[in-house]
Amino acid sequence: MLPELDVGDWLYYEDMGAYTLSMATIFNGLDATAIKYHCLEELCGDETSTIVILIEMNVLLTFLSKRAFTEQILKQYFGKLDTVNTMKKRLTDRCVVDLHPERRSTHEIIQNVVSEKQRKGDDDRFVVCDVGDIIQKFQHWVTLMPRIKLFYAVKCNTDEALLQVLSDMGASFDCASKKEIEAVLNLGVSPTRIVYAHPCKPVSSLNFAKSRDVSLMTFDNVNELQKVKETYPSARLLLRLLPEKEFNARLEFSGRYGCSSTEVRYILQTAKDLELNIFGVSFHVGSDIQDPRAYVSILQQSRSVFDIARRMGFNMNILDIGGGFPGEQNTFERFKEITEVINKTLLDLFLPEDNVEIIAEPGRYIAASAFTVVASIMSKRCYQSSADGDVNGQDSAQLKRNVATYFLNDSVFGNFMYGRLYMPGSVIHIPKVVKVRVLFS
Ligand SMILES: Cc1ncc(COP(=O)(O)O)c(C=O)c1O
Repeated sequence: MLPELDVGDWLYYEDMGAYTLSMATIFNGLDATAIKYHCLEELCGDETSTIVILIEMNVLLTFLSKRAFTEQILKQYFGKLDTVNTMKKRLTDRCVVDLHPERRSTHEIIQNVVSEKQRKGDDDRFVVCDVGDIIQKFQHWVTLMPRIKLFYAVKCNTDEALLQVLSDMGASFDCASKKEIEAVLNLGVSPTRIVYAHPCKPVSSLNFAKSRDVSLMTFDNVNELQKVKETYPSARLLLRLLPEKEFNARLEFSGRYGCSSTEVRYILQTAKDLELNIFGVSFHVGSDIQDPRAYVSILQQSRSVFDIARRMGFNMNILDIGGGFPGEQNTFERFKEITEVINKTLLDLFLPEDNVEIIAEPGRYIAASAFTVVASIMSKRCYQSSADGDVNGQDSAQLKRNVATYFLNDSVFGNFMYGRLYMPGSVIHIPKVVKVRVLFS
């Protein structure tokens, strides 16, 4: 339950990093929300605690604390280790980051920002981003699924600092459009670290991908193959599969993209006739999958497509397991359970000696918990509820209650668009409160 609030109080909504900022519109003249970045200093390293790694294309990547990772895992994941540098510098060059030597709660950070804004007479909404949370998510991924290379799904949250940090840590990227590819390449990321993961692409974007050597891409139908033949015949193609069995996900995709098992042979034969290169398979189980068995089922499907394609002579060596992992606070146990199921299933179906590179496209997992939306109460309307009728012997006069409607300076056309588009009627989160009176008393 919320306490009674006043105009000028602030509410904050946690776990707002996934599909929020990137979906916000400019309806009603809304501005882009200012983002306050903060990070526990030791997480983004210093000269002595940072490992910098050099991977293909001479791209320098800064990395994290030696305490958290062994060099062995880093080598396995990225390649050769090289000179020392800091992620901190690159990050702070890009945006203002409040680096704190000791852990600070989101509440405390927000209280500080709010009191600063109050002093300036500024009541604009803002977003707080905990960069350290992103870093730790990446660390957990590498530790729990060292065999699966992380291609962050850019559509989930396109924040520049988020992309920079991921790039510095050696992540790769799932881009769904020309603009997303441009944004990632502008960070200095090698095109070999991008999968163009939209199965249906405009010809102009295919031409663009070709001009930038972004060759790995997904597709799910023969018309797409014709386009690729005409624009980018050397592209490395991943056939996106439609999951045969449905498992409950917060956001279902199964009907929209992916070819069914009955279409596989025909599509592969068309690719063969067109002399195109199918390198592997991709799928996406839907966002925030609730049941880890979803991965078992589609991995079995993938295995049989690998076998069919290899028998047809394709050099199948990439398996893209898409996204779907939970990323909100308190979902770590569920995430861990999913990783255990995936690791075990991969060991059964794709033996390491099979030399299949396994990649994934998590979005929500990386972004959700790092961002908190903070809005202020710009107006309040008080009235008596108009409950009618006689309930349990009480007359309507007794049922009338004092009610307050609060008006925030954010909206479903701003950072709350995701809830409106995909989960009509659902409540996003119970917000937490920063009372201005308490701050200034
Ligand atoms: C092809 C593809 N991959 C990955 C993702 C990221 O999904 P999630 O945020 O659930 O990890 C999406 C989300 O829409 C997607 O469409």
